[in-house]
Amino acid sequence: MSGGNHLDSRLKLCADFVRHGKRLADIGTDHAYLPVWLCRSGICPSAIAADINPAPLESGRQTIAAANLSDRIETRLSDGLREIGGEEADDIVIAGMGGDLIAKIIGEWRFSRDGEKHFILQPMTRSERLIRRLCENGFDIDRQDCCVAGGKCYTVLSVTYTGNTAAREESYFYTGRLTPKENATHLRFVRGHIDRLNKMARGEARFAALARQLEEFCGDNS
Ligand SMILES: C[S@@+](CC[C@H](N)C(=O)[O-])C[C@H]1O[C@@H](n2cnc3c(N)ncnc32)[C@H](O)[C@@H]1O
Repeated sequence: MSGGNHLDSRLKLCADFVRHGKRLADIGTDHAYLPVWLCRSGICPSAIAADINPAPLESGRQTIAAANLSDRIETRLSDGLREIGGEEADDIVIAGMGGDLIAKIIGEWRFSRDGEKHFILQPMTRSERLIRRLCENGFDIDRQDCCVAGGKCYTVLSVTYTGNTAAREESYFYTGRLTPKENATHLRFVRGHIDRLNKMARGEARFAALARQLEEFCGDNS
């Protein structure tokens, strides 16, 4: 990957979920590859590349300048979405962070409950806790997919606020909208959850029951 010319499959899947013509905010942008790719390809007219740390933000600034996109992509020092106004972005990407931190960032932003905003989320860990927090707070998953990058399997979600807080089965937090019976990458992702649950089941029986439920969802009934 160099200067946002090419995205790896993890960031490419995030990019695929961004709507054409929408203004982007990339939170935790680091190198700014994603906003550069999205603006250069014409998908986004403009973007804010935000990061909590000055060093990655500087690296992002250099990527943006090298791509001659400084007039369309603004860099901004921001803890989560705190420095982003509600009128500044339509699609918000938060990728490469833990699920708990992503949930915290969405929960803290006062414009999150605007159903016009799309949040594209790529948790590195604890996706089940992120999905639980989103469901409990009235967000629905519009789309979800998985990819493999560097030998690891990742999931990407697109969520919006709908106000729906209907109770969900525990297993939904692990599977979301994935279809592991039809898609081998989805199956690989859910199997990762099953393996972790089976390890945890040595201490607590309810994890074994949950793992079994997920196995059935995957069609592994043996
Ligand atoms: C692993 S990098 C991910 C970079 C890119 N988003 C990706 O997925 O490839 C995580 C970035 O998030 C930034 N970060 C961590 N906590 C943050 C927060 N609360 N608000 C904004 N950025 C944060 C870090 O400084 C770092 O640059």
